[in-house]
Amino acid sequence: MRDLLIIEGGVRLAGTVRASSAKNAVLPMMAASILTGEECVLRDVPRLRDVGVMGQILSSLGAEVRTEAVGDRSSATLTIVCRSLSSHVVPADLMGEVRSSIFLMGALLARNGRADLAYPGGCSIGHRPIDLHLQGLRDLGAKIEEHGSRIEAEARELHGSDIRLTLPSVGATENIMMAAVLATGTTLIRNAAREPEIVDLQNMLNLMGASISGAGGEAIRIEGVRRLHGVSYVPIPDRIEAGTLMVAAAITSGQVEVSNCVPDHLRTLIDKLRQAGCTIEEGDRRVFVEMDGRPRAVDCVTLPYPGFPTDLQPPLMSLAAIADGTSAFLETIYEQRFNQAEGLQRMGADISITGQRAFVHGVERLRGAAVRAHDLRAGAALVLAGLVADGVTTVSGIEHIDRGYDGLETKLASLGASVRRACA
Ligand code: EPZ
Repeated sequence: MRDLLIIEGGVRLAGTVRASSAKNAVLPMMAASILTGEECVLRDVPRLRDVGVMGQILSSLGAEVRTEAVGDRSSATLTIVCRSLSSHVVPADLMGEVRSSIFLMGALLARNGRADLAYPGGCSIGHRPIDLHLQGLRDLGAKIEEHGSRIEAEARELHGSDIRLTLPSVGATENIMMAAVLATGTTLIRNAAREPEIVDLQNMLNLMGASISGAGGEAIRIEGVRRLHGVSYVPIPDRIEAGTLMVAAAITSGQVEVSNCVPDHLRTLIDKLRQAGCTIEEGDRRVFVEMDGRPRAVDCVTLPYPGFPTDLQPPLMSLAAIADGTSAFLETIYEQRFNQAEGLQRMGADISITGQRAFVHGVERLRGAAVRAHDLRAGAALVLAGLVADGVTTVSGIEHIDRGYDGLETKLASLGASVRRACA
């Protein structure tokens, strides 16, 4: 049985809601935990399907993985101890569920010189190749052979290298960082991804005894060390979840404070929402969003960080769907990241798409409809549209949403939204 969300539109959200820690920080940190035989504790970890699957993968490799619910069960403490690896083969079925498991390759090569994974393949937002991952690891001395859908990698010794990424790939940057921390010599990653999650990974690895500098900038320098020790760490807040909640406030003409978020990580979204007519106050690890009336149309070009994040493009399109005017979207990161458009159109949105461009002609009202989530952020976008649509919207395929949002409906309901989970 697959769950769905049932949303009654028309409620102006109000109140305070806390964002969880970042999925896209936690997942690479879980991979990093196999770089040491000592205990790694990640605190305030969101309860997400992707985190659960990554935990299963680590267990299948021989790590001991413990999850303990904390407080009101709104988060968990994750303890991972990888005293020794019993396998270097990542199970194909689990690999297919969490694309980001590809950055286990760097950690496995660093820990024991061997890795055997299934090719993660594309997904509904695009082909998502891993050529930059493989090239970077080969530059560090790994021998990598691709046999159909399997990839076999081995490295008697990893050595430092001067690597230039042709694209600032988040995953490739993280994979290379984790392979390089125990390599012999110095590694430079030029044109590295600059996302806050990369800086967070650097900070955690350095607390484990690594010697990394430059994350967040154009080049990351990694001095190989002999070994890493355990760590206890709280990942940064999830800027994409926080941004999604901020758009929920804007689209419902609400007044919402999002706590546990870093305004600086949301600079481009804050600018867009102000252009759309929102009043936004920034505080220490919190943002207050107030909207009164219909939003103005805003244009959006997605770019690598610090540009506008592709993961917030679908939520912003839902706001644009009811805006006064036409919004032009250009999606430069993924080939197929307008999956939300079909559902929004069923709800009455006026959207025309040509390749990577979408033009959204704002309408006065959306109408509730039965819609389906095809990917994580498109699903969130449909939920946001349901909050403002006339009548009832049912969103199916919410297993996609559960991959990256910890209790989205609970957080929205705590702000007054009429939303509940039901069995289809
Ligand atoms: C990370 O994916 C995030 N996932 C994605 O979030 C996010 O959309 C993406 O970064 C961009 O910010 C995690 O961190 C777990 P990329 P990743 O490598 O690492 C191309 C979400 O909704 N590319 O920066 O896979 C690729 O095809 C998810 O939370 C290559 O060509 O992203 C894409 O067009 C979705 N070759 C672009 O680079 C490669 O070897 C960006 O990909 C690698 C990537």
